[in-house]
Amino acid sequence: MAGARFAELCVVLACFFGGGLAAPSFTSEPGNVTVEVGGTARLEWQLNDDGASQLFELWRKLPSAGLIQRQAGQEAAPFPGYEGKFEIEGVATLKILNVEKADAGGYEFQASYDDGTSLNSGATLIVNYQPTITGMSASPDPNVKEGDDLTLTCAADGVPAPNFSWSRSDGGPLGAAVADAAAGTLTFTNISRTATGAYTCTADNGVGVAPTQDIAVAVSYPTTPAPTTPTPNVTMKITDAPTPAPSAEPEPTGGMETSDKPGEKGRGAKPQKGGLGSGAIVGIVLGLLALFLTIGVGAYCASKRFGPQPNKKPDVVTFNKVEETEAEPLKNKDPENPPEKTEDKDNNKDASIIKNGEMEEVPLKNAEEA
Ligand SMILES: *[C@@H]1O[C@H](CO)[C@@H](O)[C@H](O)[C@H]1NC(C)=O
Ligand SMILES: *[C@@H]1O[C@H](CO)[C@@H](O)[C@H](O)[C@H]1NC(C)=O
Ligand SMILES: *[C@@H]1O[C@H](CO)[C@@H](O)[C@H](O)[C@H]1NC(C)=O
Ligand SMILES: *[C@@H]1O[C@H](CO)[C@@H](O)[C@H](O)[C@H]1NC(C)=O
Repeated sequence: MAGARFAELCVVLACFFGGGLAAPSFTSEPGNVTVEVGGTARLEWQLNDDGASQLFELWRKLPSAGLIQRQAGQEAAPFPGYEGKFEIEGVATLKILNVEKADAGGYEFQASYDDGTSLNSGATLIVNYQPTITGMSASPDPNVKEGDDLTLTCAADGVPAPNFSWSRSDGGPLGAAVADAAAGTLTFTNISRTATGAYTCTADNGVGVAPTQDIAVAVSYPTTPAPTTPTPNVTMKITDAPTPAPSAEPEPTGGMETSDKPGEKGRGAKPQKGGLGSGAIVGIVLGLLALFLTIGVGAYCASKRFGPQPNKKPDVVTFNKVEETEAEPLKNKDPENPPEKTEDKDNNKDASIIKNGEMEEVPLKNAEEA
């Protein structure tokens, strides 16, 4: 009796102080388990019973749903609706068949023993699946003006989170556009008209086939640059060139042709050259010269007659006229103020017109004195 009681006491003391002597525990836990959708996942727990007997085991999907359970000495039994979905392998491995996205999440394993021990351990199932592009957008708008900023965004659902890449659908370069692989954005700053076109987003996470999708961008720009092209200037030169050619002498016409090397010389100068003979042109020129001469002489004569009336003319012009026409006024003035002029010889220098008269006064006085 005493020996048996001592043994019982030892067990109790061991529970208090030693612990490790007779306590079931996990030797391995699953932690995070990753599987691709459609595959089979295994959440593997390893235990050391340490001499105790298992009474009951339960596998749950957190937060609460029981998946499968096992009574000591019996086969594991899935809960209703989970047959063929969950199985138990080995000591305590939960096998999940035909994994779906919805299977991702937290799991828990519980075990109870006849010594009163109750164990539980959690695990996380990560289900990878191919990306699906869920949307593409352009901010502020896919139709922008040249010089604006534009951001294309590609959104996708997939595990792990996909990397995004961009390309031009026509295979051209992206230019200055900046792509963010994680955010799925393609940013244009001060966008150019050459950015017009379709852009392809690819979402790749290494699972399955990376999907692609296009978005179109249209960059508008002012159409004013077109009229400012040098074309108008060229046409102006062409139209100006032939005009002086016919009115001028024949020789310059040939010079114009060589300067206008492009095909214009064929249609512009040659037909006109054939229409007017060089003799005819010379005749016309001579006739014009004669006409101008006649008009010029007539005009000169007319100006000579009516010339004296205006007093604005310079000294030289009036000098010749003074000899003939102003000789009389001078004689008329002389009788009126003969003494003044003789006295004011020096004062006469002030006026230019009178200056001429002074030169004539000398011979007049001489004549009077004589
Ligand atoms: C499981 O994954 C989560 C999130 O990725 C991480 O924080 C945690 O440390 C992982 N746990 C283990 C046991 O690896
Ligand atoms: C935008 O681009 C045009 C053409 O390349 C350039 O002339 C202009 O200076 C740029 N504007 C800014 C603010 O960078
Ligand atoms: C995304 O790209 C980075 C850098 O290349 C790479 O380390 C990472 O594994 C990629 N992620 C996926 C899901 O492919
Ligand atoms: C074309 O005409 C414009 C406006 O008159 C002028 O500014 C420009 O210099 C001309 N260009 C040439 C090549 O003559």
